[in-house]
Amino acid sequence: MSVEKITAESIRAMKARGEKIAALTAYDFPMARLLDESGVPLLLVGDSLGMVVLGYPDTTRVTMEEMEHHVRAAGRARTRALLVADLPSQSYQTPEKALSNARRLVAAGAEAVKAEGGREILPQVRAIVAAGIPFLGHLGMLPQHVLEEGGYRVKGKTESEQQSLMTDALALAEAGAFGMVLELVAPRVAREITQRLAIPTIGIGSGQDCDGQILVTPDLLGMLPWYNLKHVKPKLNAAEQMRAVVKQWKESVTQ
Ligand code: KIV
Repeated sequence: MSVEKITAESIRAMKARGEKIAALTAYDFPMARLLDESGVPLLLVGDSLGMVVLGYPDTTRVTMEEMEHHVRAAGRARTRALLVADLPSQSYQTPEKALSNARRLVAAGAEAVKAEGGREILPQVRAIVAAGIPFLGHLGMLPQHVLEEGGYRVKGKTESEQQSLMTDALALAEAGAFGMVLELVAPRVAREITQRLAIPTIGIGSGQDCDGQILVTPDLLGMLPWYNLKHVKPKLNAAEQMRAVVKQWKESVTQ
C-alpha cells in the first residue's frame, strides 16, 4: 500500500477514478492514529465533538478554543489521512473572521476546514480558498442551525428545497470547495447533486449514491448507547464491552 500523504487534491482525484471515499470523525490522538492505521483517507475533527465528547445537547456551543484543543490532539497523530476541521458555530460570520479562524485551525494542525452553508457563506469560502486553505462544504441538515430549525430533518423533499440544494452545491464547487458533505439529504437529490458535480460528495444519512460516506466514529463503534440513530447501525457494541471489562476488572480488584 502506498504511504503517500493524502491531500485535498487526492480526495478529489478519488472521484475522478470512481473510487469511493470512506471518512470518519476523530477527536483525539488515539482515535486519529487508529483510524489512520485502518486506511481511512479523510478524518474530520467535527464539531460533533460537542455532543459526543463534551456532552453538550447540540453543536451550537462549541468554541474555537475547544476545536483547537481537539485538532491539536488529533494532529499529533501525524496522519497519512487528510485532517479536516470544522469551523464551529459563530466563527465564520464574515470573510475576515472565517479566514482568521481557518488559519487558527490550520496552525493547530488541520489541513483543510469545513463550514456549514451554501450561497450565504460564499464570500467566506472564497476568502479561505484564496488563502490556499482547502475547503470542504456541508449542505443539507446543518446541525449548527438545529435550534432555529427545531430539530434534525431530511432536506430536499420539496421541489424548492431540491432546487436550493442544487444551486448551493454548484455555487460551493464554483467557489473552490474540494468536496462537500451532504447530511440528511433525500437520497434522490443527493444522487443528482453527485452526478452534476466534478468534486466528491460525502454523504451521511443521504443514501448510497454519494461519492463517499462519513460517520461520527462513536456512532459506528456503539460508544453512545443512550442515542438511537436511524442512519447508522453500530458495528461494535463498544459501550457494552467496556462496561463488561471494567466490571470484571473491578471485581478482580475488590474481591
Ligand atoms: O461534526 C461532524 O461530525 C460532522 C459530520 C456529521 C459530517 O459535520
